[in-house]
Amino acid sequence: MFSVFLLNFVVKSVICNDENHLLFPDGFLIGVASSAYQIEGAWNVSDKTISNWDHFVHHWPEKIYDGSNADVTTDSYHRYKEDVDIINNLGVDHYRFSMSWSRILPKGHSGYVSKSALRYYHSLLDELDAKGIIPFVTIYHWDHPQSIEKAGGWLNDLMPYLFASYARVIFENFGHRVKYFITLNEPSVFCTMAYTTASFPPARKLNGTGDYHCVHNQLKANAFAYHTYDRMFRKKFKGKVGIAYQCMGSFSKDDNDIVSDDLAFEFECGWQAHPVFSESGDYPEIMKKKVAERSRAQGYEKSRLPTFSTFWVKFIRGSADFLALNYYTSRLAKPLQRSSMVNWPNDEGLEYEFDPKWGSAQTPWLKVVPQGLHKLLKIIRDKYNRPTVYITENGVSSSSGKEDDIRIHYVYSHLKAILLAIKDGCDVRGYTYWSLLDSYEWFAGFTYQFGLVHVDFDDVNLTRTPKKSVEWLKHIISTRKLESPV
Ligand code: GAL
Repeated sequence: MFSVFLLNFVVKSVICNDENHLLFPDGFLIGVASSAYQIEGAWNVSDKTISNWDHFVHHWPEKIYDGSNADVTTDSYHRYKEDVDIINNLGVDHYRFSMSWSRILPKGHSGYVSKSALRYYHSLLDELDAKGIIPFVTIYHWDHPQSIEKAGGWLNDLMPYLFASYARVIFENFGHRVKYFITLNEPSVFCTMAYTTASFPPARKLNGTGDYHCVHNQLKANAFAYHTYDRMFRKKFKGKVGIAYQCMGSFSKDDNDIVSDDLAFEFECGWQAHPVFSESGDYPEIMKKKVAERSRAQGYEKSRLPTFSTFWVKFIRGSADFLALNYYTSRLAKPLQRSSMVNWPNDEGLEYEFDPKWGSAQTPWLKVVPQGLHKLLKIIRDKYNRPTVYITENGVSSSSGKEDDIRIHYVYSHLKAILLAIKDGCDVRGYTYWSLLDSYEWFAGFTYQFGLVHVDFDDVNLTRTPKKSVEWLKHIISTRKLESPV
């Protein structure tokens, strides 16, 4: 456990006159985020090959709410200078963006590295450097070459090795100028969308098997990339490598239920975080036990949750320098009347609902629950021995055009929850708003707008216009003081 001295120091640096007036600790980073597929466009420019997402949206437009694709989206591939100006105008410390695997390695392997892709990302980094904005580079935010998907994608056990060699190319080419890397974005979200709900490519319903296998390979991939950095680059470049999890907060629906909220944590957050951040490594005991029991009862020879050998438990444990947390919302959990169906929710044995008191957003799955973030940060502090955490996504969708008071209130209340968690001894070093621009929202197409900056998708110039929240956020960033919005 961390020392009392350190805790006092941290608490004192979040000077608190009253709850409506908190100061950010020295060195706390505030930034904005995006991802390659959602903003770059330029899907077939230069020698880039098609990705799993290009393939999916072109072949199954009916799977996307508005039938759209991200062939052009915000066209940030061509408009990156304008975007960096916008970021600079916000006054933020950092920008989180991802690199596109099929742009950098068009053939899917590191035997051929695209010069034009390297040029593009270096130009973007040049712009950020010139403005003093710190880059946070996500190596994989859900898009990989379709040639790899054809070979099985994340269900192919060679994927961890392919990913590590892609990561090595990124470290080799950008490690001298990027000090924060995030290996993978949200393994549990990607894998359940791809193999449970089938709303992401390859849209295969392999409930209770494919989803587990996919996360298993992603955890191995992360560890491989992490150790590659450690062995080959850390001494020279002195950067940090983390992994991003989306964790929802959870509260037991019934106050007397002392099990459900912890179970919810372990099956969603612990599934991905326990193997990396816990002292013992491996999946959470309760998850191993439950999936094994259900598998046996269903006639499987062994658990549908794959097993890590002792080698892998050790190799994965500790394979991150920081925990990148993406937090949007929370849920109420209660025991599920189980069916015989083979799937992850049945293994977990919970069902979820929202508290009607929680505020709504444009997106149905997103309720405004900042207290869920505060609680989650404390759980992470306690379960994983106070790891360093960066909030790498937090944001809200709004349908109100540029008058986005909901966003101001959402960001304010979540920043406040973070500062209170820091007072409680959580080691949170930064906050990243999702997202900079209105952009392509995966299977929801352009129907949800998370951006601080509105993009006019009907205008050929894709005109960017700051929403009301921009002025408010700029003020907070420049004063480093979290004042309550009136
Ligand atoms: C996250 C994802 C982002 C963005 C966001 C809002 O899960 O990492 O790419 O889409 O949700 O829906």
